[in-house]
Amino acid sequence: MTSLTACAAFPSLVVLDHPLIQHKLTLMRCCDTSTRTFRDLLREISLLMGYEITRELPLDHGPIETPVAAMDRAPRIAGKKVAVVPILRAGTGMADGLLELMPSARLGHIGLYRDPLTHRPIEYLVKLPPVAGRLFLVTDPMLATGNSMAHALDVLNRNGVPDSSIRVMVLVAAPEGVRVVQETHPTVPVFTAALDERLDDHAYIIPGLGDAGDRLFGTK
Ligand code: URA
Repeated sequence: MTSLTACAAFPSLVVLDHPLIQHKLTLMRCCDTSTRTFRDLLREISLLMGYEITRELPLDHGPIETPVAAMDRAPRIAGKKVAVVPILRAGTGMADGLLELMPSARLGHIGLYRDPLTHRPIEYLVKLPPVAGRLFLVTDPMLATGNSMAHALDVLNRNGVPDSSIRVMVLVAAPEGVRVVQETHPTVPVFTAALDERLDDHAYIIPGLGDAGDRLFGTK
């Protein structure tokens, strides 16, 4: 049994359907799950997803001494490491899990809000680590319209990060959002725990889990 599902309609989408991820996501969807449990589950799922999303990190091999023997070709992650970039604010809940997995990763932030008239994303904060040679993991739990994610990827491109150095990690994706990211950044892989049905008239994902930021931070 595989824990990865490719989707014919969306070649850049990978659904991580591992049973542990799916079980934890179901708990997160339940409307009576507490803020504390929601936060813990998001971190735990991010750890599990992080395992897959980093699968292709290049390794180099060098000599070490174990307590009992010399080892010529011990593997280590090669070169520059990883930058985790949450889209504020809910993306921070997923970034926490990735940072637990990769404590020396750099942390950037992209803050966006929606212009009330045009409904387009406007940047209010962009802070990124040095980009050269680094892999950027962009996190946001809900890929709904896809406009914020597409904009965040544009921000990275503008700052010198090519699409080939970007991975997107979301928790729940709507087909509408995946389509927008795929049309604007066709070669960026998008990892998700679930591909849900659709958006409602307020751009909430159906069935989704509600407002991820409010559930994560206990706000309303
Ligand atoms: N953002 C959320 O937090 N939830 C949705 O369903 C859509 C966007």
